[in-house]
Amino acid sequence: MVVQLKNVLISDEVDPKCVQILQSNGIEVVQNVTLSKEQLIAEIPKYDGLIVRSATRVTADVINAGVNLKIIGRAGTGVDNIDADAATRRGIIVMNTPGGNTLSAAEHTCTLLIALTRNLGAASLSMKEGKWDRKKFMGTELFGKTLAIIGLGRIGKEVALRMQSFGMTTIGFDPLVSPAESATFNTEWLSLEEIWPRADYITLHTPLIPQTKNLINDDVFAKCKKGIRIVNCARGGIIDEDALLRALESGQCAAAGLDVFLEEPPKDYTLVKHPNVIATPHLGASTIEAQSRVAEEIAQQFVDLVQGKCLFGA
Ligand code: NAD
Ligand code: MLT
Repeated sequence: MVVQLKNVLISDEVDPKCVQILQSNGIEVVQNVTLSKEQLIAEIPKYDGLIVRSATRVTADVINAGVNLKIIGRAGTGVDNIDADAATRRGIIVMNTPGGNTLSAAEHTCTLLIALTRNLGAASLSMKEGKWDRKKFMGTELFGKTLAIIGLGRIGKEVALRMQSFGMTTIGFDPLVSPAESATFNTEWLSLEEIWPRADYITLHTPLIPQTKNLINDDVFAKCKKGIRIVNCARGGIIDEDALLRALESGQCAAAGLDVFLEEPPKDYTLVKHPNVIATPHLGASTIEAQSRVAEEIAQQFVDLVQGKCLFGA
C-alpha cells in the first residue's frame, strides 16, 4: 500500500531525528508542542500525518477533525493516548514503535526493584535532611528471592534475564506466552493463583486492558506472602492504588516502586508520599537512547508507508 503524505504535525517532544528523517524523505514537518486541545482540533485538518509521544491526547474529536489524516504514529510502546477505534472507523492507520524503548523500560524496572529492596529513596532523603539513620534502613538481599513477572513480553523477558544475574528465581504468567517459550529465558510459567503465594517480588509488564485493570487488588495482596514488594513500570491502573495503600499501611506490602499512575500527574500524592514507596514520573522510556530509537523508528515507518513498504507495530 502506497500512501501520499505531504505533511506531518509532531505535537509532542520527540527526538530531532524524527524531523530529519521525514524531511530528508520529502515530507514537510511542523513541530508544535504547545497546542491546546482546541488548537490541535483547529490545526489538524491541514495535515496528512500526526506524530505524538505521551502528552497529546488523540481523542475521537481530534481524529474526526483530521479530515486529511492518513496515519497517527506514537513514538513509544502503548497507544493508550490514541483512540484507535475512532481512527479505525475513519480508516486512519495507528502505528507505534514496539521495542524501541524495551531496554530502557527494563533497566528502569530493575532500578526500582533494587532501589526498593535497599530503601534507597527514603535513606537518601533522610541523609539530605542531615540524618545518619543506619538502623532504620535495614534491607533485604535479592539473592535467592523469587520474582514474579506478570506479562512475559518484550520488557518482562528482559527484566527476567537481568534480575537472574542477582540470583533471583523468576516465575511468571502470560496468556499468550507458552510455558516452553517462558522456559527459554529460565522463567517458570505458572498460573496467577500459583504465583501469588510464591512471590517475594512482583513486577508488572502487561498493557492496561479490561483483563488487567486492578489485576493487583485486595484479594491478591491477601494471597501474597506478608512483606511482598511490587513494581509497576507498565501502566497505572494495573494495581488498584487504594488497595496498594492499604497493603502498605498494614505491612502486607513492604515496599512499592511506581513509575506509572492511574492519573498522570496524580491528583492525590498520598501513595507517592508513603515512606515505603519509591516513585518516578513515568521515566521508563526517558533515556537518550530510547528516545532516539523511537523517533527514528516512527519516522522510518512513515517513510515506509510513502514508499509502499511493509509496516510493523500497533
Ligand atoms: P509486550 O506487548 O511485548 O508484552 C506485554 C505482554 O503482556 C504480552 O506478552 C501479553 O500477552 C501480556 N499480557 C496481556 N494480557 C495479560 C494478562 N492478563 N496477564 C498477563 N500478561 C498479559 O509489551 P512490552 O513492550 O513488554 O510493554 C509492557 C508494558 O510496559 C506496556 O503496558 C507498555 O505500554 C509499558 N511501557 C511502559 C514504559 C514506561 O515508560 N514506564 C515504557 C515502555 C513500555
Ligand atoms: C510507552 O508506552 O512507550 C511508555 O509509556 C513510554 C513513554 O512514551 O514515555
